[in-house]
Amino acid sequence: MLSSEQHQRWERDGFLVLEDFVPTSRCRELSEHVNELLATIDPTTEGALSIFSTTEQSHARDDWFLESGDKIRWFFEQGAFEQGQLVRELPAAVNKLGHAMHDLDPVFSAFSRTPELAELATDLGFVDPKLLQSMYIFKQPTIGGEVICHTDHTFLWTEPQSVVGFWFALEDATVDNGCLWAIPGGHRTPVKRRFRLDGQGGTTDDFFDETPYPEADGVPLEVPAGTLIALHGTLPHWSAPNTSTQSRHAYTLHVIDGRAQYLDDNWLQRGDDHPLRGFVG
Ligand code: FE2
Repeated sequence: MLSSEQHQRWERDGFLVLEDFVPTSRCRELSEHVNELLATIDPTTEGALSIFSTTEQSHARDDWFLESGDKIRWFFEQGAFEQGQLVRELPAAVNKLGHAMHDLDPVFSAFSRTPELAELATDLGFVDPKLLQSMYIFKQPTIGGEVICHTDHTFLWTEPQSVVGFWFALEDATVDNGCLWAIPGGHRTPVKRRFRLDGQGGTTDDFFDETPYPEADGVPLEVPAGTLIALHGTLPHWSAPNTSTQSRHAYTLHVIDGRAQYLDDNWLQRGDDHPLRGFVG
């Protein structure tokens, strides 16, 4: 699927932007399906008022989050609350859905398991690709929270490193509505942090290097709907808050290689009844 020039860019930059990877009609179908899902959700479910914030890390203490690896759960934007009260309707308040839609929901499964994506994964070096994590990210108008600079390996650690993030723009992503940013070539920098279970019901961070990533070297990845951005697991990337009145829906799928060891103290764990699956079967 990839040209030699694209392979070189992947090796050099640690990311690859593939416009028109998915027809925009398929993007809209996924968004419409999510609207239907949201209509079935009762946000007052016990434990469900979990805010996803990469600056506060409040979700990292919530069982709602920590037990979501093999479920479909919803998380809120911090800006959807005032004085501890949810002040927006669910469709305008939710930050993301996660983290197993690709296995539990047939529409998400079909979006995730396409011959094109399987071929791309093979082209990027996967021998035994396993679909580990899915997220539907809303980046709500005016309150869409920032995602601080991180690498995906930090959260989905395998030995050796194998995770690749597949980030689908379901709507146009711009600097104004909080597009991705990445540091070209930053994937060659050793990962500075590992987020993991602490063995006591919570999570902790191991910092191997406390110096910040050189975000001034970052570039915005403004892309139209239908674009797929592949992100190397050790590539530093982030997204700014959405200060615009336009939402920026995206779908992400994180894939690891079944030949690598997925660590028992990674935050995302799945029950024995939810074994990891590949692109087929
Ligand atoms: Fe990420």
